[in-house]
Amino acid sequence: MEQTLSIIKPDAVAKNVVGRIITRFEDAGLCVVAMRRMQLSEKDAGEFYAVHRARPFYKDLVSFMISGPVVVMVLQGAGAIAKNRELMGATNPRDAAPGTIRADFADSIDANAVHGSDGPETAAQEIAFFFPRREIN
Ligand code: CMP
Repeated sequence: MEQTLSIIKPDAVAKNVVGRIITRFEDAGLCVVAMRRMQLSEKDAGEFYAVHRARPFYKDLVSFMISGPVVVMVLQGAGAIAKNRELMGATNPRDAAPGTIRADFADSIDANAVHGSDGPETAAQEIAFFFPRREIN
């Protein structure tokens, strides 16, 4: 069993498609083992995306992530990291395969509906960033 962090971003929360996105995870065999709806602070978003600090899109990314509430989740299942990435589709919704979350619900590379961890090390760090162990069950 593997765990990964998923964030439903402010654009998808504003569109009220949280349930539809979670259904896709569950239909693919992933289980939500921790979940919280929250408003990120600038400090939260800046730290979470610190790896992108030097990238030209960092400031816009942080602004977007604090523009409204998000839903953060831990997904668990066999091959959860890769499965989640497959379900999300490409980062830019214009490149996302039909039927993926980003193809169906995202509008732009910034407002791209969901975030998912990109590997085991990142998954462990990102899960620990949001959830103490006792909240993962
Ligand atoms: P996410 O998977 O949350 O990881 C970093 C985010 O930065 C990414 O999704 C995009 O929403 C955003 N972003 C904006 N511009 C770019 C870019 N050129 N390349 C990668 N990510 C970008």
